[in-house]
Amino acid sequence: MYKDKKVVFSGIQPSGQLTIGNYLGALKNFKEFSEEYRCYYCVVDEHAITVRQNPAELRRRTYETLALYIAAGLDPEKNVLFVQSHVPGHAELGWILDCYTMFGELSRMTQFKDKSRKNADNINAGLFTYPALMAADILLYQTEMVPVGHDQKQHLELARDVAERFNQIYGDTFIVPEPFINKTPAARIMSLAEPTKKMSKSDENENATVRILDERDVIIKKFKRAVTDSETEICAREGKDGIINLMSIYGAFTGKTFEEIEREFAGRGYGDFKLAVGEACADALAPVQAEFKRLMQDKKYLEEIMLKGAMEAHHDSLRTMSKVRRKIGFTEKPRF
Ligand code: TRP
Repeated sequence: MYKDKKVVFSGIQPSGQLTIGNYLGALKNFKEFSEEYRCYYCVVDEHAITVRQNPAELRRRTYETLALYIAAGLDPEKNVLFVQSHVPGHAELGWILDCYTMFGELSRMTQFKDKSRKNADNINAGLFTYPALMAADILLYQTEMVPVGHDQKQHLELARDVAERFNQIYGDTFIVPEPFINKTPAARIMSLAEPTKKMSKSDENENATVRILDERDVIIKKFKRAVTDSETEICAREGKDGIINLMSIYGAFTGKTFEEIEREFAGRGYGDFKLAVGEACADALAPVQAEFKRLMQDKKYLEEIMLKGAMEAHHDSLRTMSKVRRKIGFTEKPRF
């Protein structure tokens, strides 16, 4: 609870370029919570360094991710937008929760297994304890609800287990958070090259992903090349993964249902349809991109938002931090 409001928390890593999958599945929906909930939307730079980053790029992407939050419609007056490493409570609580998270639990995380495979030369301790830091992000603000993609569900379950374990030992300390997983087709946008695989921002095949910041002609070209099937009919029949994915994207950007889309394109070819999807996507992203560009030219404004967000988040985090310190038997922090 924050005053009379329940808390929502989510985070995005400033690594890689966000795709329309990230936009439709998560970012675009974040603003729907802003009125009813106290919302914290965080740029999780501490999570990003679990994989080796180029320093200049990490710094630029941190600004970019914040700018994208705002460009996607999150009002900095109505949401706490901030950078994780600006608020010391995340790393502090992260360490504490490391000591209440089991080696065996962390070993079962599928994202750890995936990332270890992909970064075999850098399987560092942070990559392993990543979910405990994520639990800290969430529990620090007494979060009730965490809007995340399906791939984060396992991490959220771990956060719940850690919260329950801590509460069991010390009495009620943390609210046990619930995942909020968008179940509409927009939540699972698939690769344009392999439509049975989720669209991933780290896919090496450039034609597989559409980035939020891709130029209009690039977007249209990528949709033109999207893998479909050898039939001609635009409908959501089983086995037509490519077409279904395009219908999901078109529906998400235009608000049309599958039935409406089938009717609109009855008797028309895949070429027509792909062009329509590309145009709808480019049209919808144009204002986001324009606002993003404007914001990126105003570093000073972005830094003001970072400061304001960090101050609010830090202030709000202190209650949980001092409660946790007291419960586990740390001495009172001297003021200096
Ligand atoms: N692990 C999340 C991801 O990669 C990012 C993240 C970090 C997060 N901390 C969080 C998401 C807390 C929700 C809540 O997508």
